[in-house]
Amino acid sequence: MTTIVSGSASQTLAASLADELEVSLAAVEYDRFPDGELLAAAPDFDDDRAIIVGSTVSSDAHLELLQLQDAVREAGAEDVVTVLPYMGYARQDEAFEAGHPVSARAVARSISTGTDRVLTVNPHETAICEFFEPTATAVDAAGRLADPLPADLADPVFLSPDAGAIDLAETVRDAYGDGETDYFKKTRHSGTEVEISPSDVDVAGRDVVVTDDIIATGSTMSEAVGVLRDRDVGRVFVTCVHPLLARNAVTKLRRAGVETIYGTDTIEREVSAVSVAPAIADEL
Ligand code: R5P
Repeated sequence: MTTIVSGSASQTLAASLADELEVSLAAVEYDRFPDGELLAAAPDFDDDRAIIVGSTVSSDAHLELLQLQDAVREAGAEDVVTVLPYMGYARQDEAFEAGHPVSARAVARSISTGTDRVLTVNPHETAICEFFEPTATAVDAAGRLADPLPADLADPVFLSPDAGAIDLAETVRDAYGDGETDYFKKTRHSGTEVEISPSDVDVAGRDVVVTDDIIATGSTMSEAVGVLRDRDVGRVFVTCVHPLLARNAVTKLRRAGVETIYGTDTIEREVSAVSVAPAIADEL
């Protein structure tokens, strides 16, 4: 029998996955000692297979995940599957300067020690799956981003903010069933400053859907949407798999003229209109 064990940041998705798989959801406790150290526990866990679901949206969430892996092993689980709906540090997938770590690899190694298998949803680069031992499974949930889009998009264009995310835009277009695809050209100047050049597609009077794997500070998306606004575009919808939406990202997007933001529940936010539970269940 299988029991789902949830990290504190992924409780809604864990419950959806339990429903999807028709398995039980463990009681979990998240506590903190007076010195600040965390204690995540599954006190009643008593099964031979655990599926731990935890997006590592913070260092605490990462530590909590390691504790839950250890707790279920301690309680006798023989098979431990770890689902990382969103993997923090995944974008640090190489040493960008001398002396820097490959943080994604360090994180993957620590998670691998406590599990038999890892699944992660739309990682920024699928190559990071190889940092896990054994190699993690990349779940593609992008097609589901088409679900909440209005059925009456006018002559739609599906764009990605850079060449690297064009596959996502194509997946969303294919799932929607109609429309042209293209991408912007992006130059990143710093962690929060990006420059976006327009794509060649004529967007005048057309509804546009811009899709990326993640919206973090919102700089990429707001610049992209700003470029569109200068070109007499119709409605603009923004979709992403991972709605991290750090700092003032939502305000930036609204000020840029975004009509609606749709994200998934890999990171639980108000905009998480799409559940990745069915896509994860298909791979389990
Ligand atoms: C980068 O290549 C990614 O696909 C995203 O475009 C980027 O990480 C988004 O970050 P931000 O929202 O901070 O611009």
